[in-house]
Amino acid sequence: MGTKVVRCAAIVTVCAVACRSAPAADRAANRMTAATPAASPSPAAPSPVDCRTAKCLALTFDDGPGPDTPRLLDLLRWRSARATFFVLGRNAAAEPALLRRMVAEHHEIANHGYSHANLVRLSNAEIRREIELTQEIVFRATGQRPRVMRPPYGATNARVGRVARLPQIMWRIDTRDWLHRKADSVCRTVLKLARRGAVVLVHDTEPATVDAMPATVDGLLRRGYTLVTVSELYRSKRLLPGRAYAGN
Ligand code: NI
Repeated sequence: MGTKVVRCAAIVTVCAVACRSAPAADRAANRMTAATPAASPSPAAPSPVDCRTAKCLALTFDDGPGPDTPRLLDLLRWRSARATFFVLGRNAAAEPALLRRMVAEHHEIANHGYSHANLVRLSNAEIRREIELTQEIVFRATGQRPRVMRPPYGATNARVGRVARLPQIMWRIDTRDWLHRKADSVCRTVLKLARRGAVVLVHDTEPATVDAMPATVDGLLRRGYTLVTVSELYRSKRLLPGRAYAGN
């Protein structure tokens, strides 16, 4: 281990060792799997963050909720870190309690369509259905409608934007976590590419990504980042329906 650590530290500033293991607290937190909030009350509302002055970064989790989402919420809660969940309507429909928990813990729920269809290939009516079904599922569970969406595969055009009628949030940092499924790689990619105002794309449907999050979030916090929701990141900007945004 020693040799590898030393070599890594010498070559790059972000060393694998920082991404390797979770502290004991996380292992305890990771054992909690309830879809509903822990017995303790919801965390107090965070004080407003001004991303014009704070070093903000937005972690965005696509395609869930999934079986690993509760433990992700546990570890985010443990660190008072916030994130945005671009949920699929078909997954969200089965998890109303989990959606309520996201809202109670000050995360943002955003729209990733209903079935992960490539919106560019759909008719206007089908695009509308993908977006509106998901809006309604989230609203029925939480009383709030998502304010932003992300087209599956990042596939969009002017027509999709016009029909979907929500600001489209893309990303600056893609970990390609769905492809390699390696926690260490997710963590190293995020820590290496992180910069102020970035939107990071990861998937809470990938267990390795959730495994990566304790070290990733700790690493970002150590580097002085404030982890915010997408709407917080863009608070000083008026997001326009149909337009695409990828972070500052
Ligand atoms: Ni997706």
